[in-house]
Amino acid sequence: MDLTKVDKILTNHKNDKAMLVAILQDVQDEFRYLPKEVLNHISKSLNIPLPEIYDVSTFYKAFSLKPRGKHICSICMGTACHVRGAPVILETAKTHLKIEPGQNTPNMQYTLNTVNCVGACAVGPVIQVDGSLYGNLTSMKTIQLLKKFEKD
Ligand code: FES
Repeated sequence: MDLTKVDKILTNHKNDKAMLVAILQDVQDEFRYLPKEVLNHISKSLNIPLPEIYDVSTFYKAFSLKPRGKHICSICMGTACHVRGAPVILETAKTHLKIEPGQNTPNMQYTLNTVNCVGACAVGPVIQVDGSLYGNLTSMKTIQLLKKFEKD
């Protein structure tokens, strides 16, 4: 693993312990997750105990300790979306991507997740891709959406 990128991130934050969350955000942007080797390196470089770094890494839901795909596809399974057909959308996505929720596609293009209510119940069923919401989905629209991001 190329730790020079991590050193650059640390330098950008002046090797300041108080900037740990921002440093972890930059690491996650760079690697799409927080690799164990990188967390060890940060621990040694900033002289922060490793358990403390893991505490921060697991506290924020935005951080992932597992490799993730280029695009994070989260299907809302909240009550309103469920009633409006979310189970069908989830099955469509699973079949199209050939993975289960919590998994990555072999080409690391997608990570599939389920979430509970993203606050857009009126336009359910809803999918969130990389933070953007797509509503009023049908199976066909879901496949079109997934294909669109596959080309990125
Ligand atoms: S239940 Fe899906 S957005 Fe609220």
